[in-house]
Amino acid sequence: MAFSKIKISRVDVVPSGVPGLDSLMEGGFIRGNIVTVCGDTGVGKTTLATQFLYHGAKEHGEPGLYISFDEHKRSYYRNMIRYGWDFDKLEKEKKFIFIEYPVHEVEQFLAQEGVIRDLIDTVGVERLVIDSATSLELVHETELQRRQGVLKLIGKLRNWGCTTLLVSEGAAEVGSVTRDRFGAEVLSDGLIQLYYLREKGVRTRALEIVKMRGVVHECRLVPMNLTATGIALDLKKHV
Ligand SMILES: Nc1ncnc2c1ncn2[C@@H]1O[C@H](COP(=O)(O)OP(=O)(O)O)[C@@H](O)[C@H]1O
Ligand SMILES: [Mg+2]
Repeated sequence: MAFSKIKISRVDVVPSGVPGLDSLMEGGFIRGNIVTVCGDTGVGKTTLATQFLYHGAKEHGEPGLYISFDEHKRSYYRNMIRYGWDFDKLEKEKKFIFIEYPVHEVEQFLAQEGVIRDLIDTVGVERLVIDSATSLELVHETELQRRQGVLKLIGKLRNWGCTTLLVSEGAAEVGSVTRDRFGAEVLSDGLIQLYYLREKGVRTRALEIVKMRGVVHECRLVPMNLTATGIALDLKKHV
């Protein structure tokens, strides 16, 4: 068979739920991949990750698990209802689980792999969000321990087998790759950077796919809006 006739199967594509994003990366994420989403505070990381879970549960019947180190369940649910995302309802339908670890219980998360694994298997969780990896990393005292922590975390996530968005705090600068400092962005399969650009006193948001292993993706900054229904990319505009 001629090479050109070989069609690479992309049946295992996971749509992101963010209008405009999938067309930048051949239709969506690769099932089971781990993608780091990084950017400064307020840029929209939590919103993007949540939209991915909501869309998966609502439109594709894929249960989602959100592991939070930064936000409380009640305020999170309340904020998300503003976008029209009713997580109380999804939770009752067993399509969404929110697990919250206050900072002083992060160690517990690291030790509780079995519990989370069981939960993932029982509920059939397909999409996972960790928000944020930075909180996890900071419990370790030395740089070496932090790096080992990231390695362990990524190992766990791979075992769990979900399509995962790993949120990482850190200002993205145009023209350079944000260092998570401890290597999450290097070890993950993909890296999406969110920007909060400021020009003449006005801030605009933008998204860039820096890396997506196994996928042909666009390599430009795309303007990103936060709307009443969540994040949407504006593919026609340029930053
Ligand atoms: N209903 C809404 N409509 C539009 N923008 C919103 C809405 N709710 C929050 N935002 C914007 O989203 C920002 C928070 O985004 P978030 O995803 O929590 O960022 P991050 O996780 O990167 O810190 C807020 O500062 C605000 O600008
Ligand atoms: Mg956040």
